[in-house]
Amino acid sequence: MKRKVLGVLLSVAMVATMVAGCGSSSEPAATDDAAATEEAADTEEAAPAEDAAEEESADTAAAGGKIGISMPTQSLERWNRDGAYLDEQFQAAGYETVLTYSDNDSARQVNDIQNMLADGVDLLIVAAIDGEALNTAMDEAATAGVPVIAYDRLIMNDAVSYYVSFDNYTVGTLQGQFIVDTLDLENAGDTVYNMEITAGDPADNNAGYFYQGAIDVLQPYIDAGTLNVVSGQTDFDTVATAQWSTDTALERAQNILSSYYADGTQLDVWLCSNDSTALGVAQAITSDYAGSNSVLITGQDGDEANLKNIVDGIQTMTVYKNVSNESVVTLGLAQAILNGDTIDESLIPSFGIECSYDTESYETSEGNPCPSFLLVPNVITADNLQDLVDTGLYTMGEDGYLSAVQ
Ligand code: BGC
Repeated sequence: MKRKVLGVLLSVAMVATMVAGCGSSSEPAATDDAAATEEAADTEEAAPAEDAAEEESADTAAAGGKIGISMPTQSLERWNRDGAYLDEQFQAAGYETVLTYSDNDSARQVNDIQNMLADGVDLLIVAAIDGEALNTAMDEAATAGVPVIAYDRLIMNDAVSYYVSFDNYTVGTLQGQFIVDTLDLENAGDTVYNMEITAGDPADNNAGYFYQGAIDVLQPYIDAGTLNVVSGQTDFDTVATAQWSTDTALERAQNILSSYYADGTQLDVWLCSNDSTALGVAQAITSDYAGSNSVLITGQDGDEANLKNIVDGIQTMTVYKNVSNESVVTLGLAQAILNGDTIDESLIPSFGIECSYDTESYETSEGNPCPSFLLVPNVITADNLQDLVDTGLYTMGEDGYLSAVQ
């Protein structure tokens, strides 16, 4: 995890680098790099599409060029939405698109991106499976002069031109603050609340931000003994969940419940970094928790199953991130890059989406900040589900459950 606020004045050279992106050219792509093309073509067969997910659309005029969209997996709900929105919005704006899902397999994502470069894409949008494992593909993109937008998850390579995401640290602080406010920890007196923690995938640069944002809010209460992590499992590596897997989160939660709570110890809170992990934890609590109190469970994303759990009182909150808006910002940024426009906060009004321009917080390598557009996440509970319906992206059935509009 790299979050650093630079307290020094940036040199003129550094500012120039940031305007152009963090390392790569923001010129429209040169697609005739023979070496990159040949190598990518060689790997094409080794990277079959994930079921019917890979899609190449050549039915638009492609006036704006060809865009490669590399998503991590279809097994986690949100990426299906991200992929669909990006694909639709770029096509509607006149671009040809290539969309791949890499089944949470980093080597496959490298191959998928190499194939896109061989295919002559003008710009890449990549949500990395592993932010440290894309160097081969990123270096080839840089050689080919293809700008890269790191989408939602930062990639640790200076070929990345720009980063579009939500304010990841704030996602964590919203979860932590929700726990503080709901349990009124300020006024807890001698009451002790028992808590457990489940974080995300260590390969995903975001996971550390979510965890740290929440822990920074909760640590004073842990230190004061108001919050007690009964298992003692608090450090990120111990509570992390590879690939954000629901099954892995379920299994670990079952182990914790049988080891530390089978004697009737009351569990009050389970801080979960996102919805896929919250789903596993909620399942473990439903099947394996001996107590009868309701446990405060946090989440992130607004996955359908989790929204159902919120309606049913099984999960308490989720931090919602409107990924349709994330696609809109990505499209606006991509257009500006391909037009050779200046990239800075002056673009934001043209997006029509609330976000900030941040040139300090995210670094693709030590000392190399990546200019970032960061959108604003919101807390959703059973009390404001209508806010999701109001986005037009969900409908509410007569049973009160929400469905995402496909
Ligand atoms: C995203 C989260 C998501 C997680 C698992 C993270 O990178 O920011 O929204 O829950 O990946 O898909």
